[in-house]
Amino acid sequence: MATIVGSVMTSHVPAIGRAIAKDLQADAYWKPFFDGYPPVQQWLARVKPDVAVVFYQDHGLNFFLDAMPTFAVGAAAEYVNADEGWGIPTVKPFRGDAPLSWHIIETLIADEFDVTTCQRMKVDHALTLPMTLMWPGGGDWPVRIVPITMNHVQHPLPSPKRSYALGESVGRALESWDEDVRVVVLGTGGLSHQLDGTRAGFINKPFDLMCMDALVDDPRKLTTYSALDIVREAGAQGTELMAWIAARATLGGRVTKLHSNYHVPISNTAAGLLALQNHGARIAKAA
Ligand code: DHB
Ligand code: FE
Repeated sequence: MATIVGSVMTSHVPAIGRAIAKDLQADAYWKPFFDGYPPVQQWLARVKPDVAVVFYQDHGLNFFLDAMPTFAVGAAAEYVNADEGWGIPTVKPFRGDAPLSWHIIETLIADEFDVTTCQRMKVDHALTLPMTLMWPGGGDWPVRIVPITMNHVQHPLPSPKRSYALGESVGRALESWDEDVRVVVLGTGGLSHQLDGTRAGFINKPFDLMCMDALVDDPRKLTTYSALDIVREAGAQGTELMAWIAARATLGGRVTKLHSNYHVPISNTAAGLLALQNHGARIAKAA
């Protein structure tokens, strides 16, 4: 069985890519944001995951409004990044783990999630920037990836409850995988932000901090909100919180908080970071 070492949830604002390209990490604006990541990078260097499963939203690079899957799972040997319009430098391709992707897809379909399967899939800033924050330097990626996109773009959106169930199913898939690999699960996006309309610039710090607390010890609390409740509480793009909920739900053991950071604003966004360690599993490991 795979070992899920933990989960890291982080914002994925495109401006992060520009700040890295211009080497602005120590700049007064960026320092409180980038200072959050070294403890997580050091933990990853210690636990050395083989695979990163990444829950995120595709922002129009691979899918657009004309054809928008609610949930899609990559099942490719390689994933290529391209510029979807933000003008940030592209990163090296990611190695996939197609056998593990197919096992996750089979588990999800058996659990009645009718996911879209993608044997060719481009990955956007919502995957590349969190990966760069976890493993900076722009060299070869030390992990294979399984990308899982969730629709947070076009209503109707899946609910927090459904997002949680998706994560649980992926967690069961990982625990029943017969290869002895170590997996970290990333959830990207959020926290509260709204990019357009009359509430552009909307931030809700009390709601964000409540969510970050609940994700540690009581994640099911967040499944009582509807998708529209999340829009109201966290802004139209704050619905990316559901990627955090899915990532958290993969963890089947005892969960402890490794590290967190919260800083407002980064671009239009309340930037959050939460790293959780997973001790044990739903299924006891055979001796
Ligand atoms: C911003 C945030 C996002 O989540 C995104 O996908 C694009 C832009 C922002 O705050 O600028
Ligand atoms: Fe986004």
